[in-house]
Amino acid sequence: MGISAKIEKFMEESSWIRKMFEEGLRMKEELGAENVADFTLGNPVMEPPKAFQDKLLEAVTKPEPGMHRYMPNAGYEFCRDAVSRYYQNETDLPVDAKHVVMTVGAAGALNVILKSILDPGDEVVIFSPYFVEYMFYVDNHGGKVVVVDTNDDFSINVSRVEAAITDKTKAVLINSPNNPTGVVYGEYTLKSLCGVLKRKQEELGKTIFLINDDPYRKIVFDGNKSSSILPLYENSIVATSHSKDLAVPGERIGHIAVNPNCADVEKLMPALIFCNRTLGFVNAPALMQRVVASLQEESVDITDYQNKRDFLYEKLSEMGYSMVKPEGAFYIFPKSPSEDELEFVNYLKDKGVLVVPGRGFGAPGHFRISYCIPMEVIERSLAGFSDAAREFGM
Ligand SMILES: Cc1ncc(COP(=O)(O)O)c(C=O)c1O
Repeated sequence: MGISAKIEKFMEESSWIRKMFEEGLRMKEELGAENVADFTLGNPVMEPPKAFQDKLLEAVTKPEPGMHRYMPNAGYEFCRDAVSRYYQNETDLPVDAKHVVMTVGAAGALNVILKSILDPGDEVVIFSPYFVEYMFYVDNHGGKVVVVDTNDDFSINVSRVEAAITDKTKAVLINSPNNPTGVVYGEYTLKSLCGVLKRKQEELGKTIFLINDDPYRKIVFDGNKSSSILPLYENSIVATSHSKDLAVPGERIGHIAVNPNCADVEKLMPALIFCNRTLGFVNAPALMQRVVASLQEESVDITDYQNKRDFLYEKLSEMGYSMVKPEGAFYIFPKSPSEDELEFVNYLKDKGVLVVPGRGFGAPGHFRISYCIPMEVIERSLAGFSDAAREFGM
């Protein structure tokens, strides 16, 4: 066998989202797309905002000399400057262009951060249910994941975090607004978490980074806002992208923003820039940096997601499904009516409705619905959900 045994094992165990997505493609071919409701991927069907299209057109039709060349590995200064102004407004912190690195999406940002901070065997605390890629990203850089269960409502259990931190802990990685639950951590929770981290740093005499994987930051409902970790904790880092807020995941544009008061910031920033280069990204896509620089305050129409959240939450609740009402992102994570959620997911699949089993996120007994799909598909799926509810005695 030519490939790594570890990678072979990872591939077998881990990709429920892909498995269900591929199943969906097969079913669409066999039954016709109009007979399948595919809730598997977080791949928004929404088009990017008009401002994005306008900026893209401008960048292409008014080319500037050298715009396709290599650039400093951190990204264009004008773009990092624009991003830093976003954080200045959001936090009142003196975030500067030098605290920002443009990256190949949030996935690239996370890999760059982990590469920069982890030594072999260092631990990264994550929360279940989790975005499964964290397992692989941490492993990519020799780290070890420590999974902490959330409360029943998917909020962070701060005492469990306290118990999980050891002298090997290098970072705590949160994701708010959250995939797969749609939960948004409030300021009170974040402050309590930061309180524990400050205490633990002192007790252990070391730096523990708090990282927020933040690609859904603008997708928050009911007029609320997602709280930033930057003003709450000095050793904080944000990894994010425009994959979701501008609906451009294929364009691979994101960034890292570091708290200007972070420990060793003068060494951390060059380390991030070095890792952006040596992980093979070299720099974030040049054209996209030109486009997003002036779109830091833009986002897709959040009310569209909120309407879909309201519709699904109401209809599924009426059928008897139990779930935490999402406050952001575009996922719902209901309890499976069967303890073995795979049995339920397979039943639903036979009704033409594809969701992802909770075990794909370290939370068996649940299933994930990704509702960034057309409303008519969501409406069409209700018969399948209702049938499954009856079948499983709800
Ligand atoms: C929680 C979370 N983090 C990171 C990513 C990766 O985002 P990007 O496309 O910006 O790399 C995703 C994508 O779905 C996600 O859901």
